[in-house]
Amino acid sequence: MLTRIKDLAQGLAPRLIEIRRHIHAHPELSGQEYQTAAYVAGVLSSCGIVVQEAIGKTGVIGELVGGTDDRLVAVRTDMDALPITELTHLEFASRKVGIMHACGHDVHTTIGLGMAMVLSGLGEQLPGNVRFLFQPAEEIAQGASWMVQDGAMNDVSAIFGLHVFPTIPAGSVGIRYGALTAAADDLEIFITGESGHGARPHEAIDAIWIAAQVITTLQQAISRTQNPLRPLVLTIGQITGGRAPNVIADQVRLAGTVRSLHPETHANLPEWIEKIVANICQTYGAHYEVNYRRGVPSVQNDLALTQLLEEAAREAWGSDRVQILPEPSMGAEDFALYLEHAPGTMFRLGVGFKDKLNHPLHHPQFEVDESAIVTGVVTLAYAVYRYWQYCG
Ligand code: NI
Repeated sequence: MLTRIKDLAQGLAPRLIEIRRHIHAHPELSGQEYQTAAYVAGVLSSCGIVVQEAIGKTGVIGELVGGTDDRLVAVRTDMDALPITELTHLEFASRKVGIMHACGHDVHTTIGLGMAMVLSGLGEQLPGNVRFLFQPAEEIAQGASWMVQDGAMNDVSAIFGLHVFPTIPAGSVGIRYGALTAAADDLEIFITGESGHGARPHEAIDAIWIAAQVITTLQQAISRTQNPLRPLVLTIGQITGGRAPNVIADQVRLAGTVRSLHPETHANLPEWIEKIVANICQTYGAHYEVNYRRGVPSVQNDLALTQLLEEAAREAWGSDRVQILPEPSMGAEDFALYLEHAPGTMFRLGVGFKDKLNHPLHHPQFEVDESAIVTGVVTLAYAVYRYWQYCG
């Protein structure tokens, strides 16, 4: 079966590169993927796949009917681009000023379509049904939640996903057991003191000084009260407050992002932060408000499915092209929201060039080695096929 999948994917390579270049040239921002969705729906329909449009606002679902195994396997790819002006000078560079596929979601979408073509090409040899999720708005961490709300995960037994990675060479894949990405939450703290003359601090409550204590204590408390084996990053990226250089500030707003890997750390964060803020504010007589908004949880790759994926990749490409990733990323990925409904695994697809500089994701000169498209299609298609064979 592997040979058949490889032959099908290899035969489709020129068509897939054409698809990828079309999507790359016509990027759309998160939640506005109308043309991309229509294009995806068109390609899916031409493979005889049942298509549902406007799932999760601008998302698309394709249902491929296979054999009698009633375990439904889902594959997720994302479709949105970024508000970046492309500086690659490629002939298929973005035709839209200020919008660019700088995170490789054009490649992901192409791989989803390539898989749909390959798996539909297996005909009666496909053991069960496959649902392809073409998700919008991953960059704003909203699309997965929209898709789930519209029933995209109903009846799904397992879900697979991938993300391109420029520091892994094209032809190789990176597999990660357990945590792949971090939980990312938003934090907003208001501190209210009392205004006064800049020369008479004893008659006022200085919200700026108290805010400084809060920031310093939060950073120190990570080192002294959190388990050092469970990473936690708290970044205050914005401070606003104060009225004039010689007036003691009565109001400060702090806003930031909180990243964590361990589910227990993640669960306790709002309480931990509020306690620290409350103690400092009470000590100095200020009032406070903490708004903690849960973003996306950590992507926790299922061990059995990850093993299945690793074995599929080793068989397809040989062990020297399969890297077991020793570290997760503190970045976030809303694939995590699907994992609240079914076990799944997500891997990193190498797209790096061997003979030139590889710019990072979200860079205006980000490029991918397109040979990775076939690697992605084969790895995922074969892993999905093996799911029905080996997972019980
Ligand atoms: Ni991305």
